[in-house]
Amino acid sequence: MVVWYLTVLAASSVANAGQTLLSGLPNTFPNITACVNEPLVFSCENTTAIQNTCCSPTPGGLVLQTQFWDTYTGLEKHGQLLPKNSWTIHGLWPDNCDGSFEQYCDLSRQYDPNPSPAVLPDGTKVPAYHGPGLDTFIAEFGRLDLLDYMNKYWINQGAPNADFWGHEFSKHATCTSTFDVACYGPDYKKHQDVVDFANAVIRAFHMFPTWDMLAAAGIKPSNKTTYSLDSIQNALKAQTGAVPYLGCGNNGTVLQEVWYFNHVSGTEQFGRYKALDSTTKSTCSPTAGIHYYERTPTSEHEVRILP
Ligand SMILES: *[C@@H]1O[C@H](CO)[C@@H](O)[C@H](O)[C@H]1NC(C)=O
Ligand SMILES: *[C@@H]1O[C@H](CO)[C@@H](O)[C@H](O)[C@H]1NC(C)=O
Ligand SMILES: *[C@@H]1O[C@H](CO)[C@@H](O)[C@H](O)[C@H]1NC(C)=O
Ligand SMILES: *[C@@H]1O[C@H](CO)[C@@H](O)[C@H](O)[C@H]1NC(C)=O
Repeated sequence: MVVWYLTVLAASSVANAGQTLLSGLPNTFPNITACVNEPLVFSCENTTAIQNTCCSPTPGGLVLQTQFWDTYTGLEKHGQLLPKNSWTIHGLWPDNCDGSFEQYCDLSRQYDPNPSPAVLPDGTKVPAYHGPGLDTFIAEFGRLDLLDYMNKYWINQGAPNADFWGHEFSKHATCTSTFDVACYGPDYKKHQDVVDFANAVIRAFHMFPTWDMLAAAGIKPSNKTTYSLDSIQNALKAQTGAVPYLGCGNNGTVLQEVWYFNHVSGTEQFGRYKALDSTTKSTCSPTAGIHYYERTPTSEHEVRILP
């Protein structure tokens, strides 16, 4: 408690200008003042040019909220566990409207210790990052609440969580126009875009409670039975209005990930998401039974923290 309080005070005094939230924590929002004059359209559905790319994700207007179903982390001994009764966050990706995508768009915001790819298609090298992780940046803003949530729901496999967050931010958020540094205005505080992105990812993750949607349709993790791809897709479509991408391993028989495709009206941070059918073909077998495995109990948190 004492440590938390001191961190908050330190962060508040560092984060000088701009408004602060009621709690006293620094504001990490973008400045969308100019967006009130922009016509409101869903990304990828504009019929005239979007003038202010801080107001709508452009060109990456096909926004994917992606999640994993892992059964272990590999770092259980270090307390890196999976949340019981919940899928985990992968990220929030700005695909182009045609499903192609850009990556590592701003190397001045490169925080990925293991860039993949390490060389971009145009030959640009992405240098590995060796500095403090995103956990440090977020703590500097006093957002220990956010950090705590991320450590419960945004889980890496085989390496620390913060490495994964750095990867997601630098590979994807730097290509999302609504997180451009310029969108925060002249009072931009270094790394406020990182905090803003983490908030946005969690908000989008809450829109797609995969575990709950499947469980509500009778599809629960089981080591005794399998499910058809159709039944999984139908359960998710019945709630979101669209068929997400489902990813499977073991020749299409083990459920591992889901990607929800959207167009966004407004910013990726605050706007309204409209679900669209996946533009990527599922790697799950349309005919074989699909395993949705139970996790090893020792790989899970005991208690689910409700959002
Ligand atoms: C936000 O942007 C508007 C112009 O778009 C500007 O007038 C205003 O001063 C900015 N606010 C802050 C806090 O930077
Ligand atoms: C939508 O806006 C983007 C960004 O300004 C522009 O490149 C694209 O051509 C626009 N689409 C249409 C159909 O006008
Ligand atoms: C993988 O699945 C395909 C189609 O279901 C099947 O034809 C093939 O034999 C499988 N391969 C292996 C190695 O099990
Ligand atoms: C279920 O099966 C998976 C995959 O074989 C295994 O990792 C997990 O420990 C099993 N869980 C339980 C509760 O038996």
